Amino acid sequence: MAQAGTLHDAFMDELRDTYDAEKQLTKALPKMARAATNPELRTAFETHLEETRGHVERLEEVFASLEEKVRGKHCDGIAGIIDEGKTIMEEDFEESTMDACLIAAGQRAEHYEMAAYGTLVAWARVMGHEEAADLLQQTLDEEKAADEKLSLLAEEGINQGAADAAHPSDSEEDEEDVPKMPAPRSRGRGAAASARRASSR
Ligand SMILES: [Fe+2]
Ligand SMILES: [Fe+2]
Repeated sequence: MAQAGTLHDAFMDELRDTYDAEKQLTKALPKMARAATNPELRTAFETHLEETRGHVERLEEVFASLEEKVRGKHCDGIAGIIDEGKTIMEEDFEESTMDACLIAAGQRAEHYEMAAYGTLVAWARVMGHEEAADLLQQTLDEEKAADEKLSLLAEEGINQGAADAAHPSDSEEDEEDVPKMPAPRSRGRGAAASARRASSR
């Protein structure tokens, strides 16, 4: 009878899965950066791309600290999240709406990584792999910071910009002295005269 797997086996499995997830993200993040129109959002994706390359290297250090061969195993979870992101980028969204959707897609990826690293840190600690746990904790901190940065960008203006584009009449109502005229009919001098009156104000 085959021996039952241990927590160490599950840990190695999770590590290989996460290694593959990080590699997939190094390919997805440049596309998200290119799709972003807000320059700060673009910079945030580019900065996190650099960090993500560091996460790949840090995981290689984790494998080395455990005297295990560096190996990845296809991560279906992040592949699904990246696919959803691709679908969003193919949509014909107005600029700030696209940025808001890219933030939503990016945060899904960060939360997935936070869950993975949270588990990896806890399992490494409980099994006494302190060096591995410390390395994994550094990445977990960077994932959390990246997630918070995306929240900040959304809350500091991108969401509002998208909301204004969705409900332009709300912001127009704030403008004073705009006469409420009936919609011009297709024919007749009345509409043209109204338009002239409006433009001369
Ligand atoms: Fe990462
Ligand atoms: Fe990340």
